[in-house]
Amino acid sequence: MPLISKPFRALIIGSSGTIGTAFINLLNSYDQCLDVIGINRHSVPSINYLYPETIQQAFETLNNKEPFQLIINTIGVLHTENWLPEKRLKDLNEVQLSQQFLINSIGPALTIKYFSNLLDREGGVYATLSAKVGSISDNRLGGWFSYRASKAALNMIIKTASIELKRTQPNSALIALHPGTVKSNLSRPFNGERIGREPEAACQDMLSVLLNVEREESGSFKSYNGDDLPW
Ligand SMILES: NC(=O)c1ccc[n+]([C@@H]2O[C@H](COP(=O)([O-])OP(=O)(O)OC[C@H]3O[C@@H](n4cnc5c(N)ncnc54)[C@H](OP(=O)(O)O)[C@@H]3O)[C@@H](O)[C@H]2O)c1
Repeated sequence: MPLISKPFRALIIGSSGTIGTAFINLLNSYDQCLDVIGINRHSVPSINYLYPETIQQAFETLNNKEPFQLIINTIGVLHTENWLPEKRLKDLNEVQLSQQFLINSIGPALTIKYFSNLLDREGGVYATLSAKVGSISDNRLGGWFSYRASKAALNMIIKTASIELKRTQPNSALIALHPGTVKSNLSRPFNGERIGREPEAACQDMLSVLLNVEREESGSFKSYNGDDLPW
């Protein structure tokens, strides 16, 4: 039986991004969604992974509100104006590795630590956007060291936290969710506009998956089409 019973309340973390914005628009027009709240670096409260204390501060503000049945964290980074994904071992550097781990692993981990407490104890799903390239067993091409490794670390955090939540919040599911290749700022330098899907279509697919997540599926790594991905 799906954990989310309708109607539901939703929280989108990273609501300023391409996929975050598309989720906000979709949920605002979805008649079973009673309310959707978005937070990002510029919202009130704000959340900025370069300042990890903002995670707890945002949690404390939202903790006064009614619980959420659906939480989706879309925050992530693949490139900045200072660096692109590494092509080979000699490109590895401490700055890029640190920033990728801070934004793709540490920030989302601390967000799960606090924000899982905002889930409705009677039924809630919390998805964090991961990436198929974070799959260790599916890695055939190499490259993109720090992005791959930071998403693999995120996946392990989600899996480990899900085991604890099975005891403490048995009606909550934690999911690592791959959105597919989506046209966005993140994918643009890598042919995203040509090979990617529209964010609206990707979010529609991901919402269908999340609204059907069952208790036993907590701790899984899912694709936008519902397939389970290899770790
Ligand atoms: N697009 C794809 O093809 C694809 C494929 C696989 C996985 N993903 C994953 O999907 C998620 C969303 O990607 P997207 O395509 O929507 O990318 P995007 O448009 O670049 O959005 C990225 C989001 O992350 C936020 N962000 C970046 N650094 C941050 C920080 N230090 N603190 C707080 N927020 C920060 C951005 O905030 P600002 O607006 O303030 O910059 C924005 O809201 C990411 O986790 C990505 O790894 C995407």
